[in-house]
Amino acid sequence: MNYKAHVQLETHTVEDTQQFGQLIGRWAKQSGEPLCIALIGDLGTGKTHLSQGIAKGFGVTEEITSPTFAIMNTYDVDRIHLYHFDVYRLDDISELENIGFYEYTEDCVSIVEWADKFPDELPDETLWIYLTRIDDTSRSITLGSDYLSEDDLVEIGGPYVVGN
Ligand SMILES: Nc1ncnc2c1ncn2[C@@H]1O[C@H](COP(=O)(O)OP(=O)(O)OP(=O)(O)O)[C@@H](O)[C@H]1O
Ligand SMILES: [Mg+2]
Repeated sequence: MNYKAHVQLETHTVEDTQQFGQLIGRWAKQSGEPLCIALIGDLGTGKTHLSQGIAKGFGVTEEITSPTFAIMNTYDVDRIHLYHFDVYRLDDISELENIGFYEYTEDCVSIVEWADKFPDELPDETLWIYLTRIDDTSRSITLGSDYLSEDDLVEIGGPYVVGN
């Protein structure tokens, strides 16, 4: 993987993955800076569970679901928005403009599930997260970024970091 910084993590339960998500969400909220969180992984690797943790850490109190049909959901925490995209069903890059994708991913905090469908459309301010299945309950997770430093990634990964 060709990012300036990368860190390797593992989670061993769904709860681990959600807790890790909370670390990301809290970090994004506290930094006050735009951040696009790009999630990449096969069906059932945990993108939506991770998104739930991110939203919770960001301060969202409602239960979030993946916007597979709506394409985008918006959550509001103290008048700060979190944009959650699932671009699985989007086939044409031209549709991204219509849904405000560029504006929200560049200027706000956003989560993009299936970001590998349009990797070139994401901003520089992106945290890339790759999930792969180790077994029924464990996931290998790689964080990569050209924007966040290795120290940032280690901080975000917390107790789930296993190497780099
Ligand atoms: N360590 C783990 N982290 C996340 N999910 C796990 C883990 N171990 C088991 N699972 C299970 O894997 C599944 C992950 O489902 P989830 O909907 O989050 O995946 P997804 O990547 O969003 O899939 P899809 O692409 O189909 O929407 C759930 O059934 C969950 O219980
Ligand atoms: Mg999903």
